[in-house]
Amino acid sequence: MTIAFFNGEYKPLSEVTISPLDRGFLFGEGIYEVIPVLQSELVAPQLHLARLKTGLSALSITLDYSQEQLIDALNQVIGRNRLVSGSVYLHVTRGTSEKRNHAFPDVCKATSLIMVQSINESNASEAIQPLKASLQRDTRWRNCHIKSTSLLGNVLHYQHAKDQGTHESILYNDDNIVTEGSTSNVFVLKGNKLFTHPLDSQVLPGITRHILLDVAKQHSTLEVTEHPVTVDELLAADEVWISSSSKGLAPIVSIDEHNIGNGEVGAMAKQLSDLYVNHLVDYR
Ligand code: PDD
Repeated sequence: MTIAFFNGEYKPLSEVTISPLDRGFLFGEGIYEVIPVLQSELVAPQLHLARLKTGLSALSITLDYSQEQLIDALNQVIGRNRLVSGSVYLHVTRGTSEKRNHAFPDVCKATSLIMVQSINESNASEAIQPLKASLQRDTRWRNCHIKSTSLLGNVLHYQHAKDQGTHESILYNDDNIVTEGSTSNVFVLKGNKLFTHPLDSQVLPGITRHILLDVAKQHSTLEVTEHPVTVDELLAADEVWISSSSKGLAPIVSIDEHNIGNGEVGAMAKQLSDLYVNHLVDYR
């Protein structure tokens, strides 16, 4: 039985009910975080909760729990579910209003849910897997820096990849600039230079991106730049990686019909992924 935290109580996930008037349901009006769990410990919880706070304040949602209370609730859910490896999901919506109206209600108590998803140990320790990607023009909204639960644009892009038999859609804007993936940030390696899109409203400030940049700057000889690349530069890259809390660093070996490099996992992907895994302990 999966135990969830719901509005201050711990109960079986199957017993959680949410009102049809919840603005998360009606308007997709909420913020979420996916926090990795390794050896039953949260990875980079402070960075995730800082991003949550920024998102909540962007939507003017007030959450009644302090950072400490949230960390405690996240750990309680990990413990009560005996989660060893996987992710914790924290979802917060504006809450339930009496009437359906686009405007924020004067009074509204946020709805909060914490639940877990496990991955089995053998997958968790598996060697780095080569992934394929599809290219798509980014059709999402213009506030992609907010980790909003309104994920329809991302869902459609991700489904496109699945329909093409690939693992991720890599997105580009109207100027042919690569922004990010439908569920990940994108890194491009050319020679000794590592590129990723700078933080702006076109990309999510990924926590994995942040850690990878830190690790690459401190522990590799790569020249790291938060600089955009074009679609042509992406396709001519030596290596392309995506990053997310659930995947860590994952190498992309082909994009539609183009091979990246020689179409195999690059040496630098392996090196950076090892550095990332080994330094995660610094962020606990
Ligand atoms: N996805 N960009 C987008 C659009 C994302 O959805 C994600 C995360 C990222 C990477 O962010 P982080 O490194 O903080 O996980 C970038 C999560 C894992 C998800 O959708 O489940």
